[in-house]
Amino acid sequence: MKIGFFDTGLGGTTIFKEAYEKIDAEYIYLADTKNSPYGVKDKETVKNLTENCMKILIDSGCKIIVIACNTATSAAISYLRDKYKDTIFIGAEPAIKPALEESNGQKIILTATSLTLKGEKLFSLLTKLNGVDKVSLLPLDELVEFADCTKDIQYDSAKEYLTKKFANMNLSEYSGIVLGCTHFPIFKNVFEEILPRHIKIYEPSEGITHNLINKMNEHFPNYHCSQKSVQLIMTEENKDFKNKFYNMLT
Ligand code: DGL
Repeated sequence: MKIGFFDTGLGGTTIFKEAYEKIDAEYIYLADTKNSPYGVKDKETVKNLTENCMKILIDSGCKIIVIACNTATSAAISYLRDKYKDTIFIGAEPAIKPALEESNGQKIILTATSLTLKGEKLFSLLTKLNGVDKVSLLPLDELVEFADCTKDIQYDSAKEYLTKKFANMNLSEYSGIVLGCTHFPIFKNVFEEILPRHIKIYEPSEGITHNLINKMNEHFPNYHCSQKSVQLIMTEENKDFKNKFYNMLT
């Protein structure tokens, strides 16, 4: 039995790192380097690309798969759960609930890819949490490319880009910001540098590891792994990506 992790690129490592530290298992991390980024594509395309990646992980022996990508979760997880009943899928969702609970009547900023922000899944979550009027949506698609598409991660470009994005917002109205894309915590230091201190940053990684531990206990109570390992699969070979991936894990 293996545990699969999936993202279009490096973003999933912001979740995978914690799981890898806390749970001894054989992991496969699949990055769709060939088709990244997903956030600017349409839902049907992302659903199909995600399904192709899930087939690779299932065929490689993964019984639990963490879709460490908010965009792929939003476009495909319900479909995948219906179709692949023998596989357990854990998704990544923006941490809007804790951010709203702690907002004390102020507003929050939700950052994600364009596709996640357009999704029905997000709209139902906001409606359920009574948060439609309390949340400002801010797409930050370029951050994905600053992490994935160059030899090194482009922190300076990210700083310039984010400074412009926040320039016209009245940040005193907000109590928190939700990083609703797994690539964004890669730039957490940049967010911290730019944003005023009263704005709390919310990211999803802890909740997902906890969820994974619960699913392991529930479905594989006798699972034991003496030597943990990770295999990286890329849909298109990319040496720079590989180096950045292993750097993220140290
Ligand atoms: N990391 C993905 C997410 O959490 C998005 C990356 C992409 O646009 O490919 O949404």
